[in-house]
Amino acid sequence: MDWGDGGWVGQEGCTIDELKLTAPAKVNLALYVLGRRPDGYHKLWTLMETISLADEVTLSGATDDAVRLTATGRPVPTGEENLIVRTARLLRERAGVSKGVDIHLDKVIPIGAGLGGGSSDAAATLVGLGRLWNLGLTENALMTLGAEVGSDVPFFVVMQLRGGSGAAVCRGRGEQVEVVEAPSPHWYLLLLPKEGVSTAAAYAALRAPTRLTTVPEKAKKTQEAYERGDVDELRQRCHNDLERVALSLSAGCRRAFERMVAAGLPQAAVSGSGSALFCLCGSREEAEGYAGVLAQHQETDGFEVVASGPNGQARPAARL
Ligand code: C5P
Repeated sequence: MDWGDGGWVGQEGCTIDELKLTAPAKVNLALYVLGRRPDGYHKLWTLMETISLADEVTLSGATDDAVRLTATGRPVPTGEENLIVRTARLLRERAGVSKGVDIHLDKVIPIGAGLGGGSSDAAATLVGLGRLWNLGLTENALMTLGAEVGSDVPFFVVMQLRGGSGAAVCRGRGEQVEVVEAPSPHWYLLLLPKEGVSTAAAYAALRAPTRLTTVPEKAKKTQEAYERGDVDELRQRCHNDLERVALSLSAGCRRAFERMVAAGLPQAAVSGSGSALFCLCGSREEAEGYAGVLAQHQETDGFEVVASGPNGQARPAARL
């Protein structure tokens, strides 16, 4: 295959036996669905930022040619249903690699939360295996392969290659990634309902226009507020076309949303297709303060409360 012509990301001539990668979650600060495409996907404009809530993916060279996955943390499938296994096998086949790999996933990001956990794991696998197998793949090649695995994977590939965190505006079905910079990364209060929402089900339930429209002016203003680091304005401008569907599909998501509103939080927003909710915060103190208030309801309402920060500082509310 054509590996594209971006910068080299492999480490030629260097042999690595084991590699540990942090696979961060993301939050959609804005998500506009611009229309339904002939291929069934939707045309998007979305502003996404990585957060410190993260999985850990460990890759170890195998002595045989098998791709194996083990997992700890939240229960996940470890066979072909897992994007990590599919991604590793795809890369192996496309790059003509005969070696195998043992992969361990420590799963922290909830599944079906709209936080991109599976896509981030896939991106970490792609970037990590590129290094472990010394493939010298370009950013373009990794993004192209990633897009075959899932719409959000190219975003996470770009974040991995930039050191593991950041933000971008993504277009197309999500695979066109334009990095954007903020003066400082953000803190978030996250509410994670027990049950997830299927992304496919959320899009299927959406009555999106079939005619492709241009990016709304509001979206550009959201990006400008992000780039200025104006948390108050950004909260006002956060918008998600999938929010209504997510709330209608998940009772847990609705309960958590209502709790945030009742607690008087300055924002209650759904990330992606749900079921996770967030409130953008100006500081760690603010995020942890709200987490303390909402933590009282986590048992009865069936959600987890997390204050997630910029530098691997996600903490369950129970430990605040
Ligand atoms: O690309 P990914 O496999 O993550 O998408 C999951 C599902 O979400 C797709 O099967 C599709 O139904 C829906 N989707 C969509 N438009 C997008 C991204 C995802 O309709 N831009």
